[in-house]
Amino acid sequence: MQLAKRLDRLPPYLFVGISQKIAEKQARGEDIISFAIGDPDLPTPSHIIEYMCQAAHDPVNHRYPETIGLPELRQAIAEWYRKRFGVILDPDKEVLPLIGSKEGIGHIALCFIESGDIALVPDPGYPVFAMGTILAGGEPYFVPLKEENDFLPDFEAIPEEIAKKAKLMWLNYPNNPTGATADLGFFEKAVHFAQRYDLAICHDAPYTEVAFDGYKPPSFMQIPKAKEIGVEFHSLSKTYHMTGWRIGMAVGNAEMIHALFRVKSNLDSGIPQAIQQAAVEALRGSQNCIVEHNAILQRRRDKLIKVLDELGLKARVPKAAFYIWAKVPQGYSSIDFTQKLLDETGIAVTPGIGYGKEGEGYIRFSLTVSDDRLEQGINRLSNWKAV
Ligand SMILES: Cc1ncc(COP(=O)(O)O)c(C=O)c1O
Repeated sequence: MQLAKRLDRLPPYLFVGISQKIAEKQARGEDIISFAIGDPDLPTPSHIIEYMCQAAHDPVNHRYPETIGLPELRQAIAEWYRKRFGVILDPDKEVLPLIGSKEGIGHIALCFIESGDIALVPDPGYPVFAMGTILAGGEPYFVPLKEENDFLPDFEAIPEEIAKKAKLMWLNYPNNPTGATADLGFFEKAVHFAQRYDLAICHDAPYTEVAFDGYKPPSFMQIPKAKEIGVEFHSLSKTYHMTGWRIGMAVGNAEMIHALFRVKSNLDSGIPQAIQQAAVEALRGSQNCIVEHNAILQRRRDKLIKVLDELGLKARVPKAAFYIWAKVPQGYSSIDFTQKLLDETGIAVTPGIGYGKEGEGYIRFSLTVSDDRLEQGINRLSNWKAV
């Protein structure tokens, strides 16, 4: 048996390694508080679960779904975009439900990337942008997100010959892992850059509804020309605490959406229909849960920022997304510091290097830890010396 060489280029998925380390410690009886993974701790709102339970009883939903998704779901996604962002989408041509946005993010590379082609990928960034590119036979070109640029890419610093060769550019705001946000002016610039070099843009936006202090993150699709050259990936995972149900969407340019549909229709058979119906309920039903979740996350953010500040671990206060991107003390690599934190306090975080070279020197805390575990974590940190 001979495995394909492309597998040699894939590092182990970041969180698998972290989960293993945590599991080993737990097996030894250690009490680990994990701030490592961005998976909401609070349950899916009950009206959504109730709807899904009812839908699960309907035999129509026991059969194969269609990759294109239920018309009602595509309609609900288009309505949600109109209400939330004022963006008009054709539910038949400009909306495609996904089995979680990660699935679509990985697969869209197959629509654009041929052997040796370049995709512009943010560094630090969500690992799937680069991995999808590699699996499609392409080369990620890592565009640094520097703190001094508010973790936005500097388009002018991308070498001309790279931009000319690139086929696709990934963006992600509100950003994982840095918590940075982008305004419409930035998205305008991105569209100009993409038009100059004939690039497609994929904007990954699962965190637009996780925001604090009254801030409302915009959609890339609000830029009138965005639909000519790009798509946006969105997800119900973080908005409605539905990570386990696996449902997201791609919206935007009809040709790109159709290309992704063609790839997917040859690989998957869509999203279980009861889950699609629950998603309709989530998108059309009460949105109060978003306000409630954000109030909880904001309180957690403020508490954690305070103790990190006291420890000398500098972090910007994020306006959106549920991550705190903190600097490690001088002299430590992100991995060494993550290990020290885990060994000395039983607190797990993710090392910045896991998100790319530019993530070195940082660690990421996720705020998706229950309130009482957060309090315990904060107590441990208050009684600890970082250096
Ligand atoms: C930036 C970013 N994009 C996409 C995803 C995937 O979300 P899902 O597949 O649950 O929709 C995540 C999950 O952590 C993420 O952080």
